Amino acid sequence: MNESVKYGVVIPTLNEVNNIVPLVKKIQGCGLENLEIIVVDENSPDGTCQAVNDFAGDNPLVKGVLNDGIRGLSPSIVKGFRLAQGEFLACMDGDLQHDVNDLPKLLKRLENTDFVIGSRYVEGGGFKEKWNPFRVLASKTAALMAKIIFGVKVKDPMSGFFAVRKEAFEYVAPKLSPKGFKIMLELVFRLNHSDRAFIVKEEGITFGLRQHGKSKLNSKVIIDYIFMLMALRKTV
Ligand code: GDD
Ligand code: MN
Repeated sequence: MNESVKYGVVIPTLNEVNNIVPLVKKIQGCGLENLEIIVVDENSPDGTCQAVNDFAGDNPLVKGVLNDGIRGLSPSIVKGFRLAQGEFLACMDGDLQHDVNDLPKLLKRLENTDFVIGSRYVEGGGFKEKWNPFRVLASKTAALMAKIIFGVKVKDPMSGFFAVRKEAFEYVAPKLSPKGFKIMLELVFRLNHSDRAFIVKEEGITFGLRQHGKSKLNSKVIIDYIFMLMALRKTV
């Protein structure tokens, strides 16, 4: 355990070999000291995890680990948060679609909140290039469904970019469902329905286009999402 680690960034990956090392380098240059970077890889055939560890060498603040539990995005992120040593943690995609310049803002906001949602739909947030309008519509519909089904009053619960205090994560972690693609939404839901008064805020982020590789969001993910919303509702 390294006592001086203050911040942690967890990055779930599936075949991001061309994106991951450039991303790790950018994070190292974002101006935050005592920052640990943990890549949780889905045993990618393209060697993403190995690329991280080759780059890390003997730097203890960068590590690639494999998701050895249930397959998927949420379990990978949960594993990363459990391993992370810092008090202030963030999660971001490994494909350079989330802007590293937004990372310090999200992590620093945790000094007076418990959870910070990186949001494309609040002031200061948006898209770097013009986005496929169908994709925007799908994401807004998903947000609206979350609001209707169980009243999560946030504008962008699906951005995939967020920050959480380790302590708040640990408090709700035992209740998290082991599967799924939408860990942020579930964490916000659990924090909102906790016996402790956790504070959740939104902060503007800029979302870019994927440069290499391809998206893993498909119709199965969308169906899983709907089932997750219904299952969560039953738990309150
Ligand atoms: N470990 C692990 N396991 N990582 C995964 C898996 C998996 O099963 N599936 C995807 N990833 C990683 C990808 O490698 C990437 O780093 C990140 O998770 C996001 O996956 P993408 O495939 O790039 O998703 P996207 O760009 O289509 O969707 C993103 O934007 C949406 C909002 O428009 C994600 O951030 C979504 O969470 C978000 O809703
Ligand atoms: Mn992506």
